[in-house]
Amino acid sequence: MDHSNTSRQTIVIDCDPGQDDAIAILLALGAHEALDVRAITTVSGNVPVEITQRNACIVRDWAGKTATLPVYAGCSRPLAREPFTAADVHGESGLEGLELHEPLAPVAGQHAVDWLVEMLSAAVPASVTICAIGPLTNIATALLQAPQICASVREIVLMGGAYFQRGNATPVAEFNLYVDPDAAEIVFSSDVPIVVLPRDAAVNAPITPARIAPIRAIGNRCGNVVADLMEAILAFNVRRRGLAEAPMYDPLTIGYLIDPSLFGGRAVNVVIETAGKWTLGETVVDWTGRTGRTINAKWINEVDADSFYTMLCEKIRNLP
Ligand code: BDR
Ligand code: CA
Repeated sequence: MDHSNTSRQTIVIDCDPGQDDAIAILLALGAHEALDVRAITTVSGNVPVEITQRNACIVRDWAGKTATLPVYAGCSRPLAREPFTAADVHGESGLEGLELHEPLAPVAGQHAVDWLVEMLSAAVPASVTICAIGPLTNIATALLQAPQICASVREIVLMGGAYFQRGNATPVAEFNLYVDPDAAEIVFSSDVPIVVLPRDAAVNAPITPARIAPIRAIGNRCGNVVADLMEAILAFNVRRRGLAEAPMYDPLTIGYLIDPSLFGGRAVNVVIETAGKWTLGETVVDWTGRTGRTINAKWINEVDADSFYTMLCEKIRNLP
């Protein structure tokens, strides 16, 4: 499969929808001039995989992609630990705040990991970007099964981790990497170029009522879905933290793929805590290079938030 002669980036979205995952998928599908979304692969995370796969199918229906965008269901539990979900945040449905229909079509028959291995094994070098916005179980399993697939991956752009900000799953760990730190360790130890959009970036691009208004004003189906989701995320933060703003997580990865000039960061070494009694899943970022460990990731901590929301609005306008 050779997609190198096109200026659109070939991407796969590995996700656990999840309210913000749903926004990320819609942003990517609205950016069809820049991104060729080949498939959605789902993993257990915010809610169990039976629900994340169903939600991915529902989101593709909203975008009018039922017949053209395959959804592959993946791993149902972390590599070595008990499942840990965030249904308290995203609701039991994973998409609290929205009325959900029965998906118009089922998931594809193949397991997500098998599909990833098959597709990447046939792809030309450095031709596929993986946008990973859930726990990294599917990606790590594929890398363990077929390490040669590294060569086909252009980069992994992932939402996970926290360094300048505190954690959200524990005082130090961000949810995606906390759920499956062993998978995260495998990914960060691989040879694949990695870009990290951590909580540090998410907190710097908060969802606010003023940023929801123009999306609501678009007036199309997907605009209303995205506005409903942003309102639900905001309402949760008001309830839990008394704050009228909320971090914008997963969609920043897609924003980075569409226009990396809106983001700033530093090439660093990142290791994942997999043994700590109190610090499981923490991202240990060598910001100043003091350890001398090899650089393995670009860590994004700056974002031009207003431009990101303008982009979100423009791309959602392209959808039904
Ligand atoms: C991440 O955890 C999930 O709840 C969100 O979908 C996002 O991927 C934020 O920590
Ligand atoms: Ca997610």
